[in-house]
Amino acid sequence: MTNVIEINRLKKNFGNLDVIKGCNLTVMKNEIYGFLGANGAGKTTVFKMMTGLLQKDEGTIRILGLDIDTNRNEILKNIGILIEIPVFYEHLSAEENLKIHLAYMSEEADIKKTIDMVGLNGIDNRPVSKFSLGMRARLAIARAMIHNPQILILDEPVNGLDPQGIRDMRVLFKKLCIEHGKTILLSSHTLNEVEHIADTIGILANGIVAKQAKTIDIKKEYKGGLEDCYFDITGG
Ligand SMILES: Nc1ncnc2c1ncn2[C@@H]1O[C@H](COP(=O)(O)OP(=O)(O)OP(=O)(O)O)[C@@H](O)[C@H]1O
Ligand SMILES: [Mg+2]
Repeated sequence: MTNVIEINRLKKNFGNLDVIKGCNLTVMKNEIYGFLGANGAGKTTVFKMMTGLLQKDEGTIRILGLDIDTNRNEILKNIGILIEIPVFYEHLSAEENLKIHLAYMSEEADIKKTIDMVGLNGIDNRPVSKFSLGMRARLAIARAMIHNPQILILDEPVNGLDPQGIRDMRVLFKKLCIEHGKTILLSSHTLNEVEHIADTIGILANGIVAKQAKTIDIKKEYKGGLEDCYFDITGG
């Protein structure tokens, strides 16, 4: 398997605050990578640097073999992003929001099919302002995947979803990887869910990926599974 994301010695500080202090991370093609860490550990900061939304201080980020410093546009065509609270055109419907996104990306896609895949079918034309939190989460995932990118970078994608929604997304993410050859890097605070879905786990603590291992190996190493591992690494 090849690495589709390679981060080396990444550093970022905000004033006096050293948030990322030499972080290494590798994601292999076709896998689901669960990125964990406490509130404020720097997960979103890493995702923003990976997508060029934030300038890094030091280190290298290569996605699909391309350097983010020199090939940002090419990279953006091949990744789907959901970072922090997604912003939509509130007065427009899900379909119209996706249409605008596709036009912006200069891509074409089957909007209805994508709406269906994320379980938003039957929502009619109501504006996004009338959506529940879970509906917004589904629409955000739809927007990230609609231009058929090879890699999805999803920051807390199941935030706000009910148990059925979480299960639906687990099935969808697995399907995207197994049947459509996608690679998914996602962050989450729901250890149980990540343990279910991720092939590889990375735990961000003290500004570095303090642990990166196959989920299966973590389960062998820690009797209590991912939760034990998480608290061991984060010192909780
Ligand atoms: N633009 C910014 N200016 C100053 N400090 C920032 C900025 N963005 C993030 N930080 C700080 O960097 C640290 C990491 O924040 P980040 O949002 O990356 O954490 P996180 O791991 O995503 O947390 P959470 O799980 O709560 O989403 C925090 O201390 C935050 O206050
Ligand atoms: Mg965050």
